[in-house]
Amino acid sequence: MTAPWLFTCRHTFESTLLAEMRHLQLPLMRAVELAPGLLRVDLPPETPILAANPAYALQILPNATEVFAPSIRALALPIAEALRVALDGQPGTWDLHALVPGQLKGNPKPPMRRRADLIRDAVLERLKDTARWALKRRVAGGRQLAVLAQFVLLDEGQLWFAVTPVQTLQDGATWPATLPAGLADVPDDDIAPASSYRKLVEAFACLDRAPQPGDACVDLGACPGGWTRVLLQHGADVTAVDRAPLAPHLMADPRVTFLPADAFAFRPPQPVAWLVSDVIAFPERVGELLAGWLPSQLCERFVVQIKFKGEPDWLAVEAAKWVATDAGYRVVARHFFNDKNELTLMGGRGD
Ligand SMILES: C[S@@+](CC[C@H](N)C(=O)[O-])C[C@H]1O[C@@H](n2cnc3c(N)ncnc32)[C@H](O)[C@@H]1O
Repeated sequence: MTAPWLFTCRHTFESTLLAEMRHLQLPLMRAVELAPGLLRVDLPPETPILAANPAYALQILPNATEVFAPSIRALALPIAEALRVALDGQPGTWDLHALVPGQLKGNPKPPMRRRADLIRDAVLERLKDTARWALKRRVAGGRQLAVLAQFVLLDEGQLWFAVTPVQTLQDGATWPATLPAGLADVPDDDIAPASSYRKLVEAFACLDRAPQPGDACVDLGACPGGWTRVLLQHGADVTAVDRAPLAPHLMADPRVTFLPADAFAFRPPQPVAWLVSDVIAFPERVGELLAGWLPSQLCERFVVQIKFKGEPDWLAVEAAKWVATDAGYRVVARHFFNDKNELTLMGGRGD
């Protein structure tokens, strides 16, 4: 017995996601690309949601149901009914995400956006009649949710939906993601010296946590300074380590201490709040880097890129994750929309 599960990913990484699912030994019976960045994979319905958490997936719609219907109201009715049933006896908060395929390609004004919003409104309207009690617990845009309902409108009269209990992975990072389609809103920054700042913005959005004003942060492989700038925007004090200097305005910032040193040899004199690293190095060096920091708890949290040449190096990813968990950190790997041939490892101690 199998059921359709939908996975979204950064488009062009569909085959990488499927290869990862095979690597995870998920019992996939068949896989179909429904749209760029949207895969249907048939899995046993009882597959634990956390077992179906590949790093290359940005979002998941487990045990999804397909609906064909001619009108907005008719498309909305089965979603409203599934929500009513799922929320009955469930005291937690919930939200409903209305997705369209174009947004998976990063299109800010994707086709069918308006129709999807009208379907979402029709679901909420229906719940007013059938489960008014549930509407009070909806947190629009909420990040900490007990239940997430999602639908993807594939065509004017065709959608897939799922209503899913939300699991916490690390800090605010959940599975399914409580960011719509797992996509963070990354503002344009014309002053950022590199577009790589987008990856760190996505990581903080995924974690629903970021440095606090005055937090000590270490940025390894910091040049030209995209990540350092993001840390400064959160009010952090940054030790930036690279062989090459940062952009002049960052070098001149009194909250930045630049060290022209080897990122792998550097250790802070005191534990810091955040270690971030975008160093370009062989994948296995990331485990070595973390082994120099985490067993002595030199950082509270970390965001570290692991970069590949060719196929993902799963051995290196597992080794790096193992170093983190062995040192008492919870760790999540994700391939963000702005990640290239790399993964973002995010970890933290405590809650
Ligand atoms: C992708 S860039 C970092 C971009 C940066 N995160 C930003 O947003 O501007 C990688 C950096 O790692 C640095 N790097 C590579 N190996 C290093 C090492 N062993 N020690 C210090 N820096 C290193 C390179 O000089 C390069 O500036």
